[in-house]
Amino acid sequence: MRKIIDYKIPFTSINIELQMKEFLNYYGKSEIIHHSYEVANKAKELAGKFHVSPDKAYLAGLLHDISAVIPNEERVKLQKHLKKEVLKEEERFPMILHQKQSAFIAEELFNIYDEEILSAIECHTTLKREASDLDKVVFIADKVKWDRSDSAPYLDQLNVALDISLDEGCKVYINWVLSDILVLHPWLKDAMLDLDLNY
Ligand SMILES: [Fe+2]
Ligand SMILES: [Fe+2]
Repeated sequence: MRKIIDYKIPFTSINIELQMKEFLNYYGKSEIIHHSYEVANKAKELAGKFHVSPDKAYLAGLLHDISAVIPNEERVKLQKHLKKEVLKEEERFPMILHQKQSAFIAEELFNIYDEEILSAIECHTTLKREASDLDKVVFIADKVKWDRSDSAPYLDQLNVALDISLDEGCKVYINWVLSDILVLHPWLKDAMLDLDLNY
């Protein structure tokens, strides 16, 4: 089993945007590169609107899906090796671990030590209890620039909601995703309680 450090590659650039690109290309995950730039730019734009650090939002967006390099069948093993808890929802649907594992890679291989950035990466799929505004900005940016070819069906409603507040935007997406969700992650349940949403 590969540990996080085993994924280390010799970067030719000192620029983190180019390192992200080098890293994903190296592991044959070039399809994630465009999405990562899009989410980074959208997060930066939303950061301005919602008064959080644009630089932190940009970096979190840039690296949020960086653990795409880890095969899904390796995710639970890796988590256990790291002595991290594996929730039963994550055991059933290991792909959902990609949010936490992207934060590990950002820290260990990209030297990101800022807790706010790591937090936003770690919960970009599910949010979590007492999510910060930066967490929510990156969460929303990922949903606006989702990684499918067509544009997101909830986009118009989401944009209207974002003119009211960041929380209203989160609610629009969560209400949409609940109609078609594979596993309801406990972190999402916690976030829903904070947002006064029922599940
Ligand atoms: Fe993701
Ligand atoms: Fe993403």
